[in-house]
Amino acid sequence: METTKLSKTDSVKINLNGQDYDFPRIVGSEGEVGIDISELRQKTGIITYDNGYGNTGSCLSSITFINGEKGILHYRGYPIEELAKNSNFVEVSYLVIYGHLPSKKELEDFQFQLTHHSLIHEDMKKFFEGYPRSAHPMGILSSMVDSLSAFYPDAGYDGDVNLNIIRLLAKLKTIAAFSYKKSIGQLYIYPRNDLSYSADFLHMMFAVPSEDYEVPAVLERALDLLLILHADHEQNCSTATVRMVGSSEANLFASISAGICALWGPLHGGANQRVIQMLEKIRDDGSDYKKYVDMAKDKDSGFKLMGFGHRVYKNFDPRARILKASADDVLEKLGVHDPLLEIAKNLEEVALKDPFFIERKLYPNVDFYSGIIYRAMGIPTNMFTVMFALGRLPGWIAQWKEMRENPKARIYRPRQVYVGETNKSYEPIDKR
Ligand code: CMC
Repeated sequence: METTKLSKTDSVKINLNGQDYDFPRIVGSEGEVGIDISELRQKTGIITYDNGYGNTGSCLSSITFINGEKGILHYRGYPIEELAKNSNFVEVSYLVIYGHLPSKKELEDFQFQLTHHSLIHEDMKKFFEGYPRSAHPMGILSSMVDSLSAFYPDAGYDGDVNLNIIRLLAKLKTIAAFSYKKSIGQLYIYPRNDLSYSADFLHMMFAVPSEDYEVPAVLERALDLLLILHADHEQNCSTATVRMVGSSEANLFASISAGICALWGPLHGGANQRVIQMLEKIRDDGSDYKKYVDMAKDKDSGFKLMGFGHRVYKNFDPRARILKASADDVLEKLGVHDPLLEIAKNLEEVALKDPFFIERKLYPNVDFYSGIIYRAMGIPTNMFTVMFALGRLPGWIAQWKEMRENPKARIYRPRQVYVGETNKSYEPIDKR
């Protein structure tokens, strides 16, 4: 649904080639100002160029608000800190997707549906058999999600949208856990309807048929917190991808599958895996933090501090702040001493005092501390980005739904400024 809190105040004059043009000045519900240039090309024949879309608003949205300068993150108007403290992932998913905190009855129904749709078709299990043991679980996850369209072909907007949303939310954790079991050669553990969303996932990950396994409460809560913190993040790379693919009216599963692929990259969700690999490298190399900070400053080194920097946050990432505090707590409760946590804190301290990082406003992002917690929980490094995908799913779904419900939505189709060769004539092959 398009936001109702948008106000079009006055117009902005843009002078091009000596001529003034008026464009609407729009103001969002948190006071953010934009210039509506939808008619720029039609009126002037000129387009904008915005490398990496750093200044481009691609939609109006009422799901998530971020103020990067102040380190603010809200889902549907609620501060992330309050949701992290008081809510759980299922409730936050409902909030993000349907726009309001559920009543008791709504939450019970939602929870019931999520548990009762968590089995995957038995034929889908055969797909897992085809992958090599070394397959990255993100590759398996994206193809399995796309494959859901083969089993539920009514996943476009003319089908039962809500049922398909429930199916996807319920089944993603089963697919994720099965992909892990496949990679370690263990039997798949089926979902259990008596467990919470997070406990069920952890049970499918860590139980084996030969003995009882009870999910420790500390693991269940830690996972819930991590998933809440990842639930949405407005127009990031994977979400924009979901909208981009969905804008062609591709079905829900195809659109989300594309988002999973975008998330996989190391500059986005794949960073959490890379952070741990980086910390291990620093540890094995004698914990010389300064050497790695210097390398990150040297543009020719090809090395970046993974888990540092953000397109939007220029002060601090509120998710990283919550996770840093939680890392100490979770590790202590689990009785885990991980030297990588110390290395991470020391690295952060060295980097934050360095003028290079200060000038560029580079701070730890959500991926910097999440991996330490996942490690302590026993989740293998190559599953970290899958955990991010599990958390981000309600956000992707909400953004896809918002776009599809918007009667003014158009296919995403950016323009370009062509800088290639001109006026060439075809040369026969023997003349080239
Ligand atoms: N280490 C060293 N230098 C950096 C880093 C870093 N991690 N991040 C940015 N810079 C430098 C960059 O070289 C540039 O310097 P200069 O102005 O001299 O050219 C300046 O800081 C601005 O960076 P940018 O690359 O223009 O910023 P961006 O907004 O295009 O990219 C980013 C944002 C997150 C991709 C980038 O900071 C990065 O690659 N970080 C490491 C990967 C990472 O942790 N990704 C997870 C992001 S948070 C989770 C999510 O939502 O995906």
